[in-house]
Amino acid sequence: MLVSGGGSNLAALLAARSDPAFGARVVGVLSDDPGAGGLDLARAAGVATVVVRPADFADRAAWDVALAAAVGVFSPTLVVSAGFMRILGASFLARFAGRVINTHPALLPAFPGAHGVRDALAYGVRVTGCTVHLVDEGVDTGPIIAQRAVEVLAADDEASLHERIKTVERALLVDVVGRVARGALTVEGRHVRLG
Ligand code: GRF
Repeated sequence: MLVSGGGSNLAALLAARSDPAFGARVVGVLSDDPGAGGLDLARAAGVATVVVRPADFADRAAWDVALAAAVGVFSPTLVVSAGFMRILGASFLARFAGRVINTHPALLPAFPGAHGVRDALAYGVRVTGCTVHLVDEGVDTGPIIAQRAVEVLAADDEASLHERIKTVERALLVDVVGRVARGALTVEGRHVRLG
């Protein structure tokens, strides 16, 4: 799992392990940021952690190769990016093609990028939500696996809307990861089938 922030999505996946029928386990947590709260959650749960800092590499491409190598050590079935604030590069995606998923706090293809919640609010949409999608070379452009809608309330600011989205997002991610672990993920062009 790849995290840069507090890691509440990671926490949800770790909590899901208590259900023996869940079928997935988190084998490692990697971050670009040694201060990421998600690393503490992983350590507390006894999950291996690795930090691969861009600043320690000559350029983005070298960092990307190192990140891919660090993830490869865990031989993951699925790579889950949740709140990972870096773009995965060509080397990483070549190595884990079709097995990297990301969760985004908007209904793609609307409002991609780092400020999906803020942008949706500024646009004035009445409904937004979250998307779990396969990662390709673009920014939040890969085939969509699952989406859930969240209503925007008149009193919402970015923080309150993001919190409501995250509640729905965590459940969606747990559902998707469990279904991939218990079944299969088939991709035909832009269409993804689970199970
Ligand atoms: C999620 O809303 C994710 O979609 C966005 O950042 C948030 C990460 O939350 N990119 P957390 O670190 O898992 O709590």
